Amino acid sequence: MKNRWISSLMGTATLCLSVLLGGCAKVIVDIPAPPSTPPCEPPYNITTNFGEDSSSEFLVQWHNDAAIPVQKIQITAEDDLDFLNAREIAVAGEPFSLSGEIGTISPRNIFRGRVAGLQRNTKYRYRMGEVGAWSKVFHHETSGAGAEFSFTVVADPQSGTNAMMSHVMQAANAFDSNNKFFLMAGDIVNEISKYPNEILSYTSAANEFNERTPVVATQGNHDTYWTTGDNVYKFGESTIFNSFITFPDNGCESDHNKSQSYYFYYNNVFFVVLNTMVTDPQHAIQAQWLKNILEHDRARKLSQYTIVLCHIGPFGNRYFEKWKEPVVRSTYGKIFSDYEVDIVFAGHDHTYARSNPIKIGTDSAIEAIDYSPTPNGTIYSIAGATGPKFYDATDERSAQYYPFRTTTMLEMEPGVFVNVKVTSEKLVVEAVRVAGTNTRREEVPQVTLDSYEVMAKRSFSKAAE
Ligand SMILES: [Fe+2]
Repeated sequence: MKNRWISSLMGTATLCLSVLLGGCAKVIVDIPAPPSTPPCEPPYNITTNFGEDSSSEFLVQWHNDAAIPVQKIQITAEDDLDFLNAREIAVAGEPFSLSGEIGTISPRNIFRGRVAGLQRNTKYRYRMGEVGAWSKVFHHETSGAGAEFSFTVVADPQSGTNAMMSHVMQAANAFDSNNKFFLMAGDIVNEISKYPNEILSYTSAANEFNERTPVVATQGNHDTYWTTGDNVYKFGESTIFNSFITFPDNGCESDHNKSQSYYFYYNNVFFVVLNTMVTDPQHAIQAQWLKNILEHDRARKLSQYTIVLCHIGPFGNRYFEKWKEPVVRSTYGKIFSDYEVDIVFAGHDHTYARSNPIKIGTDSAIEAIDYSPTPNGTIYSIAGATGPKFYDATDERSAQYYPFRTTTMLEMEPGVFVNVKVTSEKLVVEAVRVAGTNTRREEVPQVTLDSYEVMAKRSFSKAAE
């Protein structure tokens, strides 16, 4: 392992640094490796996501030693098993370490890679690192306008091991062989700052799925800082989360500490990831950004459906009106209604629940909303939980918001995913409780908790491509 990077047989090793300058110019710099150069280990903490246009780009992020300035992505056709015809992309590391009230992360470099210029509807293989210290081989399939596809929503693994998350996501892949990616609705760890090993555990577990499918993640409250143990979250802070999770840089702010609002297109669906873990002033900024991107999408007929992912949604369950739900509802509810968003998937409540298609108006007070089926309304759904934590949603208040389906804790154990099949005519949604052992130590079968369809509301300019 220690001598894999620098070949002692070659006498002097050469590290080729490909640096993109001025957009297109490629400069090759030969740097003789000094004898004392430390050996390079393969990349670690690898996570993936889509770029803005999933038909031509994707993102991959990883960590490696602080002494390594540049690493590579090699990408090639799926059948080029030995990467003989690979394209190489140099990625410069960004120094990162933390030691203080928001957590402790040892020094390392973060490599944020973007692979663009891909062909649509095409399978690729890729790896990250350097000669002698490559990562395992990852795979990526670009989207294309005409194909039907599925995606899966999962929520709130919120544990130190992520074992149940893996169990649920494996079941989701087995359930639908056409599952192209996951939406992860936040709370990927329990306490991101006090126990840094939790996010290491998450990235390790997510890596199993990132190997073939991106995991499109949003930040939950447990993914903000909690250093005192007294439910003190630092909304708007995302330094640790952003150092482990990658996402397109198209949100309402442009730096890496932005609020993680981002969007991407996959075939005929416009996916918008809202961060509802921001400060109240930031919500207003994010809302304007949301209106702007929806207006752009509608004006150009770029999609048939809009799916929104967030952690805390407009309607709570266990916490009712006690926390962030009212500001989320008042800030974004009317925008969802005005632009006829199809489904808003949320996490946080560790339950499965689903509303009628409804509209939220200027008065977003809980009593002002008509919860009966409304034409071109938006469906709000809490996407269950992967476990181990579950709450009941069968009280009277939850039934008001979510008249179609609410669930008990036991009904969801040992975990839930929501599968969505997309066609040009409709979305077919199925919420599934996976098979396994519940807290009563009973073996339970896989069952469908809920299913529904959403018909396409608008035309799509790319339908003929
Ligand atoms: Fe939460």
